[in-house]
Amino acid sequence: MTLTKREAELVNETIPALRQHGEHISTVFYKSMLRDHPELNHYFNSVNMHTGRQPRALTALILAFASNIVNISELTDKLERVAQKHASLVIHPEHYEIVAKYLIRAFSAVLGPAMTPEVNAAWTKAYWLMAKMLTGREQIIYKDFGAWTEFRPFTIATKTPETSEGDIVSFTLAPVDGQPLPPFKPGQYVTVRLRIRGHKYRQLRQYSISDAPRPDCYRITVKRDIGAQPDTIESRQFGPFDDGPPISSAASSASDSSIGSVRPHRPGLVSNILIDDFQVGDGVELTHPAGEFFLDTNDPNNSPVILISAGVGSAPLYPMLKAVSEQGIGRPVSWIQASRHDAPFREKVEKIAAQDPNIRVKFFRSRLADGDVISLTSRFHEDFSGLNWEDLWLTNNLAQYFVCGPEKFMNEIGNHLLKNRVDSSRIRYELYSVGSFEMKR
Ligand SMILES: Cc1cc2nc3c(=O)[nH]c(=O)nc-3n(C[C@H](O)[C@H](O)[C@H](O)COP(=O)(O)OP(=O)(O)OC[C@H]3O[C@@H](n4cnc5c(N)ncnc54)[C@H](O)[C@@H]3O)c2cc1C
Ligand code: HEM
Repeated sequence: MTLTKREAELVNETIPALRQHGEHISTVFYKSMLRDHPELNHYFNSVNMHTGRQPRALTALILAFASNIVNISELTDKLERVAQKHASLVIHPEHYEIVAKYLIRAFSAVLGPAMTPEVNAAWTKAYWLMAKMLTGREQIIYKDFGAWTEFRPFTIATKTPETSEGDIVSFTLAPVDGQPLPPFKPGQYVTVRLRIRGHKYRQLRQYSISDAPRPDCYRITVKRDIGAQPDTIESRQFGPFDDGPPISSAASSASDSSIGSVRPHRPGLVSNILIDDFQVGDGVELTHPAGEFFLDTNDPNNSPVILISAGVGSAPLYPMLKAVSEQGIGRPVSWIQASRHDAPFREKVEKIAAQDPNIRVKFFRSRLADGDVISLTSRFHEDFSGLNWEDLWLTNNLAQYFVCGPEKFMNEIGNHLLKNRVDSSRIRYELYSVGSFEMKR
């Protein structure tokens, strides 16, 4: 199936209008879809709906797809991220029917009379082209998952603080069925599903697997999200989609009376509940490990691996470090980590490095890890530019870079590497949020 020349023209002619009203489309689309299909609230993260990040990500991808319809390879990485995320959330082909109906309706609402039956048919076809690519890839991913394609019950086997402040906590999670767990690629994540008292819908969040594969348990490491400051987030409240986390009345009134000193904040729902309330023996549900941010441990070049993180961004990188050191083939690794107070895994990393001369480690104190994923100001480049070239392997044309931390941090690191002639294809980023990470230069 492909678009005819005429259909491609019709789609292209309407892209500018749709792009201009992208926010409106997203709002109309998700509001009406979730009103008519409230069961889908079990899948979507209500916060990403409230902030508009999720609707924006979906609409942006569809428009990018339509604009690149003759050159889809440009979007391969983005599509892979979405397919992996969908598989991790147990999205199925029948869901695409629902999305199609409400998305095309939202396009009509924006385009008005310009949405002629011909344009409607062209857009419907374009949508299904993309949907088929995603579902096709998702079916392959589900096949690779083997028998484990649904949420599976786990219990918390251990709960261990990773910092003296207790703001970062690791959980080992063991399957209730006692069956061996499959291995995963270092860097991948799981989706954790919880029922939370007072919340009508189940809550789903992704957490990177923070230790090497084991058949009896996976480890995740959760940072307490203390809450974004409303004046620094992309806050776009477009009505209640869900029973999302309330702003605490104490915090709101404090802000009302003392703007500029104490500001209201919304503590993250799941991370705080996991850290404060969930104990050893409590149950959660997990999907099969997934994700496109991983280290290829079979790289025939044995090229240097540079792992750069801030705070809990080290979670997907630690299994990469362990995988390389356990291979024992002399592959060089640099571990570079910024943290506000204690760096999670520091002792473990130093112990591994002490036994392997190919591993170099650098820890920085930084204000970076103090905040949420999207709203930080940083001065990390000052520390980073002080690193020596050997640690960064800047003159090695095969070196691979894995970066995980707040968006601004990743942006700074990315820019520093690009300025030093590292090809962008050798830099991988993991964004702890929805949507793909876009470098700003
Ligand atoms: C692939 C991937 C891997 C990840 N790995 C890890 C990991 O290893 N460790 C880890 O700690 N995290 C990880 N995350 C992040 C994790 O999934 C959660 O997003 C994080 O724990 C916060 O969830 P929460 O429920 O506590 O916060 P949420 O309740 O989802 O809130 C998130 C933020 O939004 C703000 N907010 C809430 N409501 C609103 C509103 N109405 N308007 C505007 N802003 C609002 C909150 O203040 C908060 O700062 C990962 C994410 C992804 C996508
Ligand atoms: C062609 C159709 C679709 C497109 C283009 C699309 C696009 C996207 C994009 C870009 C993301 C963000 C991925 C990321 O984290 O980087 C996403 C996430 C998601 N999608 Fe889709 N999607 C489509 C269909 C569907 C369908 C049919 C469903 C199920 C009803 C669905 C449910 C979700 C959910 C639950 C998330 C995660 C949201 C979150 O974590 O906040 N999507 N999708």
